[in-house]
Amino acid sequence: MADPSRPRLTVLGTGYLGATHAVCMAELGFDVLGLDVDAAKVASLSAGELPFFEPELPELLRKSLASGRLRFTTSYAEVAEFGDVHFVCVGTPQKAGEFAADLTFVNAAFSALAPLLTRPCLVVGKSTVPAGTAADLARLVAGAAPVGSAAQLAWNPEFLREGYAVQDTLRPDRLVFGVASDDAEAQLRAVYAPLIADGVPVVVTDFATAELVKVAANAFLATKISFINAMAEVCEATGADVKALSGALSYDSRIGGRFLNAGLGFGGGCLPKDIRAFMARAGELGVDQALSFLREVDAINLRRRDRAIDLARELTDGTFVDTRVAVFGAAFKPNSDDIRDSPALDVATRLHQQGAQVLVYDPQAMDNARRRYPHLSYADSAVDAGRDADLVLMLTEWAEFRELDPAVLGTVVARRRIVDGRNALDPLRWRAAGWQYRALGRP
Ligand code: UDX
Repeated sequence: MADPSRPRLTVLGTGYLGATHAVCMAELGFDVLGLDVDAAKVASLSAGELPFFEPELPELLRKSLASGRLRFTTSYAEVAEFGDVHFVCVGTPQKAGEFAADLTFVNAAFSALAPLLTRPCLVVGKSTVPAGTAADLARLVAGAAPVGSAAQLAWNPEFLREGYAVQDTLRPDRLVFGVASDDAEAQLRAVYAPLIADGVPVVVTDFATAELVKVAANAFLATKISFINAMAEVCEATGADVKALSGALSYDSRIGGRFLNAGLGFGGGCLPKDIRAFMARAGELGVDQALSFLREVDAINLRRRDRAIDLARELTDGTFVDTRVAVFGAAFKPNSDDIRDSPALDVATRLHQQGAQVLVYDPQAMDNARRRYPHLSYADSAVDAGRDADLVLMLTEWAEFRELDPAVLGTVVARRRIVDGRNALDPLRWRAAGWQYRALGRP
């Protein structure tokens, strides 16, 4: 390594996590080489085009490319030759037909890289993996790297939220270093020196704890969301208002108001599959009872989608046949074009299957939705989706939908009926404009 304070970095896997990490590390002043096995993705990133929507990231990508600090390749040999610190950022999706995480991409990345490691380096896992994976990978690296024990492993989970990925990478709440040596810790401290200097807390721990911090954090967040959605179910049975309830709870600083928005529940590429993989791993470890509550968290979450459909059916007098339904939102949450496990598209699909004519509009996720959900129809704007609709469903709380004028939308729809699936609209305003307004967990 020429300058230990300025290691050369590589990033394996250029999805949401990897692309953001590569760009942000270049922004911090490091020379970074990103790798992906998908040549089309490498070509697109090299041309300054981000294959997904993420605020702030396209500008930083183009800036890093122009500075010469960031390049992309498909060659593992080039990566092994270039890097002092290698970040593995490949995906760990849910296995088809079971709860466990699919480690195919992680194993492939480590297996391809390790035999090429001919000089001292640190390989850093950032992917979300079941506890125990890092220990296995440390053995794999030790056994396969020609440089032997001078190739070390560390585990450094990421906590970035889509839509805030740049901010969460450059100003994270904390850094977690799972390491087996002081040298590995020192190398990670060198990489993150600018963040540490800004006061970001560092937790130094073992591999298993580092792996667990990530899944425990996501399990807690999912539990918090399902808790308030369970309260919404009780509110529905008692005539209480979950929005007022969560507002009152949030004043208790021990509880806090974040992740306490009742509605259609969580989706996306992380929370659902991470809690399921966590349960699967607990089963393998013989502690499945410890996490059996997560089954309920998952079940509460999925029940909210059924409830949204029930509310819609109540508004359309019991049937969706020959009913025109406008669905506002396709992304799993606002400020993202990610439709993985999108509650909005799940509900839209089920309405379609029950005979509704569904027209979907989303500010960013239209291309992804059209590709994956070709059976649905799509409109170019919220107003176009709403034209002649018998019912409107607001299922992803984009600012554009929050700001809609109920009077204006009311002039294009056939019937002024709306289900607010995210408790994001003002019921008084919509009712004053003549709308029948229904929401989850509210009278
Ligand atoms: C999540 C974690 O927040 C992040 O730390 C981790 O690294 C990856 O997984 P992300 O999937 O980007 O990030 O989305 P997040 O903002 O956490 O939202 C997850 C889902 O929960 C969304 O579908 C959102 O709509 C829903 N949600 C969130 C609620 O239903 N209610 C809330 O109060 C908050």
